[in-house]
Parts: sequence; structure tokens; C-alpha cells
Amino acid sequence: MILFKETAGLHQHLSGIAKDYAGVVNIGLVPTMGALHEGHLSLIKKSIAQNSITVCSIFVNPLQFNNASDLEKYPHTLEADMELLNSVGCDILFAPNAREIYRNEEDKKLNFDIGFLDSLFEGALRPGHFKGVAIVVHRLFDIVKPTNAYFGLKDYQQCMLISKMVKDLALPITLHLCPTLREPDGLAMSSRNMRLPAEARKVATKIYEVLEYARINYRTQNITTIESWCKSQLSATPLYQLEYFNIVNAETLLPIASPDEPAVALCAAFVGEVRLIDNMVIN
Ligand code: PAF
Repeated sequence: MILFKETAGLHQHLSGIAKDYAGVVNIGLVPTMGALHEGHLSLIKKSIAQNSITVCSIFVNPLQFNNASDLEKYPHTLEADMELLNSVGCDILFAPNAREIYRNEEDKKLNFDIGFLDSLFEGALRPGHFKGVAIVVHRLFDIVKPTNAYFGLKDYQQCMLISKMVKDLALPITLHLCPTLREPDGLAMSSRNMRLPAEARKVATKIYEVLEYARINYRTQNITTIESWCKSQLSATPLYQLEYFNIVNAETLLPIASPDEPAVALCAAFVGEVRLIDNMVIN
């Protein structure tokens, strides 16, 4: 694997490859913020299988953190990440610094309307977060110019946001939104899990349990009953501070009016000091 910290080196390398292959090169991009786990590696493996070159980017994007201490505490594990990427055969790691991504104020501007995603759930609770995500993903797309890009569905609204951006801006990129990988006890894999102390890790799986309850009982109980049961279970679990648990239309994120609509259960909670999010498509 080759590591590039600068865009110029990356471009030179990619254009060399394009020349060698007479321009017929599929580039797969897996954007990450590092602290890699099996969930990221599954995206990398998928990209390797579908492209001539796979680029993983690691950049902890300050623009998407609405909470300074969350940014400060974000794990930085470049050495371990590189070992993992090497172990699965990733071709290129692009690990730029902030000056490389945001060369000037223009690079921080966004010419696209995030729409309703900014006012619901993650958008409402983390003001500016989605704008920051859209800006950095757009910059990474612009730098790497991938044919295919891979994202995990654990960040359900983020996947909706990036799909909307690709569609609204007619970007020539195929998105691959990939299923959440889970630990054997059901906890969704996340870089934040490494910050969970043992006691919190033990109860963190409760989120998965209630999501499963929602999925299994969706056809036989009404939504309000399921939501109240799940919320009460989470609130009664030690260390939990529940932010939301809702079953909504999977495309609009609005309340469900008919049982035939596509449905998703969305959940966010602090478990001790660590904020976890998860979801399950249930219909
Ligand atoms: O999901 C993430 O890790 C980040 O939001 C992303 C897509 C890499 C943008 O910084």
C-alpha cells in the first residue's frame, strides 16, 4: 500500500496508472476518519473486488464536529490503521492534513441544499454536522475522482445525505451503501466503541436488542407501543441517556402513515460518555 499525505502525489500516481491502462481504470474510494474496524475493512474488501484501484482516505474532518470535546477525543490510530489496510490489500491510503483538504475558504463552501435531513434526528441534534460531512465528502470526491464510493449504512442519514448530493449535483459516481457489521452480541461496529469502558460496553448491546424487538414486532404491534417499550427499556438501562428512538418512513424520515411504507427504526443514545447511533430497516 502506498501512503499519500498530499493531493499532488496522489494525482501524479493515479494519472500514471490511468496512462498505463489507457484510461480504463475504476477507482474505488472508501472515505473514513480512521480508527478502522472490520466494518471499514468490509467496505475496502468490496471496493477491491469491484475496482482496479482502491483508495481509503483517513481524515478527521473538523467541520463535521459540532462539539469540540468530541473532536478532541476522536481516536487517532494511523499505525494500526495502516496495518489493517495492508492486511486486506488496500492499494492507496490518502491521509491528508486539514490544509490539504481546505486550501482556502472556497473549499469550505457548499453549493447544495441538504434539505429536510438537516432538521431531523442527527441533523437536528448536531447542527452543522451534515453540512460538514457533505463538504468533506464532496472535496474527497473532487480530489480522488472515484468511479465507485463506499459508505456504511450504520450512518443511515449520512447515506441519505450523500445519495442526495450525488443525485442533486449529478456527480458521475456510483454509491455503494453497505450493511452494518455487528459484533457477535449485536453491537454495531463503530470507531467510537473503542472508547467504551468495560461497564458501558456490556450494556451497549441493548440498542441492538430493542432494534431487533422493533423489527420482530412491527407487524403485530402498533408503532407507538413499540417505540414506548423500546424507549423505556433503554432509559431503564444503567448508563443510558436516550436521545431518540423512532420508527419512521425510511425515505422521508417522517412518521409512518400506512404499514406498507418502507420503515426504519433510528436510535441514538449516550452510553456513559460515548454517543452511539444505530438503525434497522424493518419493513
Ligand atoms: O462516516 C465517516 O467516517 C465520516 O462522516 C466521513 C464519511 C468519512 C466524512 O468525514
